[in-house]
Amino acid sequence: MKDLFAKIYRDKGPLGKWASQAEGYFVFPKLEGEISNRMKFQGKDVITWSINDYLGLANNPEVRKVDAEAAAAYGSAYPMGARMMSGHTDLHEQLQNELAEFVGKEATYLLNFGYQGMVSTVDALVSKDDIIVYDVDSHACIIDGVRLHMGKRFTFKHNDIESLEKNLERATKMAEQTGGGILVISEGVFGMRGEQGKLKEIVALKKKYNFRLFVDDAHGFGTLGATGAGAGQEQGVQDEIDVYFATFAKSMASTGAFIAADKEIIDYLKYNLRSQMFAKSLQMQLVVGALKRLDMLRTMPELKQNLWKIVDALQSGLKDRGFDIGTTQSCVTPVYLKGSIPEAMALVKDLRENHGIFCSIVVYPVIPKGLILLRMIPTASHTLQDVEETLVAFSAIRKRLEDGTYKRVSAKLIEMMGE
Ligand SMILES: Cc1ncc(COP(=O)(O)O)c(C=O)c1O
Repeated sequence: MKDLFAKIYRDKGPLGKWASQAEGYFVFPKLEGEISNRMKFQGKDVITWSINDYLGLANNPEVRKVDAEAAAAYGSAYPMGARMMSGHTDLHEQLQNELAEFVGKEATYLLNFGYQGMVSTVDALVSKDDIIVYDVDSHACIIDGVRLHMGKRFTFKHNDIESLEKNLERATKMAEQTGGGILVISEGVFGMRGEQGKLKEIVALKKKYNFRLFVDDAHGFGTLGATGAGAGQEQGVQDEIDVYFATFAKSMASTGAFIAADKEIIDYLKYNLRSQMFAKSLQMQLVVGALKRLDMLRTMPELKQNLWKIVDALQSGLKDRGFDIGTTQSCVTPVYLKGSIPEAMALVKDLRENHGIFCSIVVYPVIPKGLILLRMIPTASHTLQDVEETLVAFSAIRKRLEDGTYKRVSAKLIEMMGE
């Protein structure tokens, strides 16, 4: 019989196998200093374009003060236990009520982490006779939720309404046999490429097909819509989203998340979300901190305006210089370049070491072979000077990519690694 660990010794997994070349630099990098537009990486000052602190709240002095006071008042323990057992408080309820009003839904329920909350919500919404139809590019937490489903599931091509409709036809036929219903899942904003989910078109299909819509709006909450209520508000279909999800890990610069829906649905979910029933309640310092952040989202529209000033400057600056930023319709700013993985590594090294620019890099198999995706997250804490420096740096690295500099550097690197 094999040792359970034999496969682990042999194969470190699709990402783990690159650990010796990538760890500490391309993956698990250590950014140091206060969370802001400029931080330190390996002792060097860098402009950071990889932190989801969209509204620049992470280091807002008022936010830091409230966080510190709440930590002093409650510590990290309070309240002990799961919400259902001993972890429920007036402030949890207050936050839920305020969030419901903010996103225009009857009720919300707090989640101690977005990821686990999403998994459990998908799990709780369907039974084995139901059918899930979801976007093929969905976030891992949606996919993991779908994995728990005992019934049928279909993917539709990314943001492709024709493909969604085909799958809705299949799902409808199947649901007629099983006696179940249909759950459609999309994201409000797809975090890698920045496209908004086609919520308006999806909602329009409700006239033809009988389904409920669940939207993960992690990147839309706080950044899109007239009042920051997200992609549904931006597209004028917030009311038609049956279950809405957002995390505190991005615009709110914190930890935790929530789901929003009609009261009866939330009442059902709060008794059936296994990740909340069997795990500790959201800590009080996070609840108090979220109340403060939500108040700022509500009363300080300038935060979102500042964010979009930077987004517009960055995206139009890149386009003016001929960069391909794909089809983004949100703050997420992808820059697509052509090159191999070794070239991408040399390019990112050059960006960090010689230009002081820190952004995430995405390569095959996440995107097609031969493409390099530099993923940038603008925030309200960036300045126009940051944008200008970045545009100059990007023009310089593109020149070096095109004149073969990175090919030569990477060939040398590969040779050295092979020796
Ligand atoms: C689209 C999406 N959904 C869900 C999550 C998970 O949220 P959390 O970080 O609160 O676990 C993330 C990442 O934060 C995300 O990008």
